[in-house]
Amino acid sequence: MRIDIITCLPRLLESPFSDSILKRAQQKGLVTVAIHDLRDYATNKHRTTDDYAFGGGAGMVMMIEPIDNCITKLKSERGYDEIIYMSPDGEMLTQSIANQLSLKKNLILLCGHYKGVDERVREHLITREISIGNYVLSGGELAAAVVADSVIRLLPGVLNDETSALSDSFQDGLVAPPVYTRPAEYKGWKVPEVLLSGHEAKINQWKYEKSLERTKNRRPGLLGSN
Ligand code: ADE
Repeated sequence: MRIDIITCLPRLLESPFSDSILKRAQQKGLVTVAIHDLRDYATNKHRTTDDYAFGGGAGMVMMIEPIDNCITKLKSERGYDEIIYMSPDGEMLTQSIANQLSLKKNLILLCGHYKGVDERVREHLITREISIGNYVLSGGELAAAVVADSVIRLLPGVLNDETSALSDSFQDGLVAPPVYTRPAEYKGWKVPEVLLSGHEAKINQWKYEKSLERTKNRRPGLLGSN
């Protein structure tokens, strides 16, 4: 899989892909993440990518031309399954959307900034808009990193059996059960006996019951929503 991220603040995206699982996924050749600095696609000598809004109003608007130049260049190199604009008024990211996107070959994530992008970008250049939650971030970079992380960790070979994405919260419509590690007792606080029993069937039953109980208590909206 390949994920191209278009941003006017490329440094914001350096660290999320330079550590741990996302770094290893790239080293193993399971995903290519390419960050593109929008300023490289600007056409004026100051390399500006934003301008005042027609009709007035506070805040600068990202111009269509650098975005179009960048997307056109990428599309000349390969086909894209989705060109996604990160936006607080987009479709809310869910595990199911992450699952869908993980089956795609090539994705573009476009990060917005300031007061947003020229509306013609949304009308003509992108295929989808995704939000990571009902709050406004300073830009789409952190949101793009969240989407990329949620997708990359699902690619076959990225996680090993022990960290398998299949046992994640939400993957089966339930939140994850509690987990414990050594010591088995700390300040008198004990790990549930069943987890120390070595009885796999009983342990799995306990985990399922805890998942169900947690989902009912914390996220009842998930039950029956899949
Ligand atoms: N850009 C700014 N806020 C955002 C959000 N909540 N989700 C996605 N992109 C954004």
